[in-house]
Amino acid sequence: MIDFDAARADTPGAASTVFLDSAGASLLPNPVLDEVFGHLRREAEVGGYRAQEERAEDLRQGYSTFARLLGAQPNEVAFTDSATRSWLSLVDAVPLGTGDEVLISEVEYGANAVALLRLAERTGATIRLVASDETGQLSLDALRAALSERVKLVSLVHMPTNSGLVNPVREVVDAAHEVGALVLLDACQSVGQLPVRVDELGVDLLSGTGRKWLRGPRGTGFLVVREAVADQLVPRLIDHSAAPWVSRDRYQLRDDARRHELWEYGVAERLGLIRAAEYAAALGIEAIAKEVDARARFLRDGLAELPGVRLRDLGRQHSGIVTFTVDGLGPDQVRDALRAAGITLTVSPGTSTLIDMTARGLSAVVRASPHYFVGFDELTTFLAAVGALPRS
Ligand SMILES: Cc1ncc(COP(=O)(O)O)c(C=O)c1O
Repeated sequence: MIDFDAARADTPGAASTVFLDSAGASLLPNPVLDEVFGHLRREAEVGGYRAQEERAEDLRQGYSTFARLLGAQPNEVAFTDSATRSWLSLVDAVPLGTGDEVLISEVEYGANAVALLRLAERTGATIRLVASDETGQLSLDALRAALSERVKLVSLVHMPTNSGLVNPVREVVDAAHEVGALVLLDACQSVGQLPVRVDELGVDLLSGTGRKWLRGPRGTGFLVVREAVADQLVPRLIDHSAAPWVSRDRYQLRDDARRHELWEYGVAERLGLIRAAEYAAALGIEAIAKEVDARARFLRDGLAELPGVRLRDLGRQHSGIVTFTVDGLGPDQVRDALRAAGITLTVSPGTSTLIDMTARGLSAVVRASPHYFVGFDELTTFLAAVGALPRS
């Protein structure tokens, strides 16, 4: 069980707002803040290179920390500056050509979808949509019908950005592997919220971010490339860290996931990200998942009872992302009125998951995403504030 008072004491931001935006960018805990500020201060004292050398072992250990968190080996982990950077680097390295197919689901994230459209233009590969089932999660029947030896990649969003859904991963992986397709899991919203282990889920590739449920700094991301497929994925553009320059006309591409990294990065942010992962692991991801689930259920039950409030969540299994609209008020108006009442949450626009939101006739939804450091009394305050919104 998580010590709620200790979690609050570690979260300075929680004192000034009811914080319901961990799906956007969560509140950093003190140990992460101290790590980032401490390293920046050290850089100012001795210069960035020496400061980095002093933390070389901690930076190296970061790969093991993430490997433990994600059920991977340290050589299967790489760090980037965002989930999208991770996703782009991975997808761009998948060998694709005319006649090849990439499958996506109806809740594909906007950045991924646009990248795939461009990739299809460039490579001649075709993107095919796998329909959702009646609950809104990816339809396994539709997936099986779409799979053939032409499919080289299945892109699966674990938890979409704005529909409260958790997609089934293991079943998708098993079906995709039967035809030899790779599975790329967008775990941007799930790592730090749920146990996400590539060894159990069987995914080949994974992308994630630091700033959301892991409570790390902005500008941080990570990826996993399973050892068995690392060779197949050659990034198009590499630097002398991904591929050391060994003689005038030759480079030697790294044989691990770090072929997806660049030499330069924000060391303070990286250290903060590693600290955030250690912090989450010390609390226990299972314990975090329980706390998030209890809060999301409380919100869904409470919102369902409010007249004129419509829950917009999909799926059989629900995540910590609770989405809704209020009759007679635009999502932006709801967000602004709640912000004036001391509540922080965000609006997720239709363009974030264009296919799904268009099909449901939604231009945007209000998104409330409570982490374990939010109290149930605060959730009650939030529900009362939604109930009291002035309607036209
Ligand atoms: C499901 C999903 N995938 C990918 C992303 C992109 O993450 P980033 O902004 O770190 O690139 C987001 C961001 O909200 C997301 O919700």
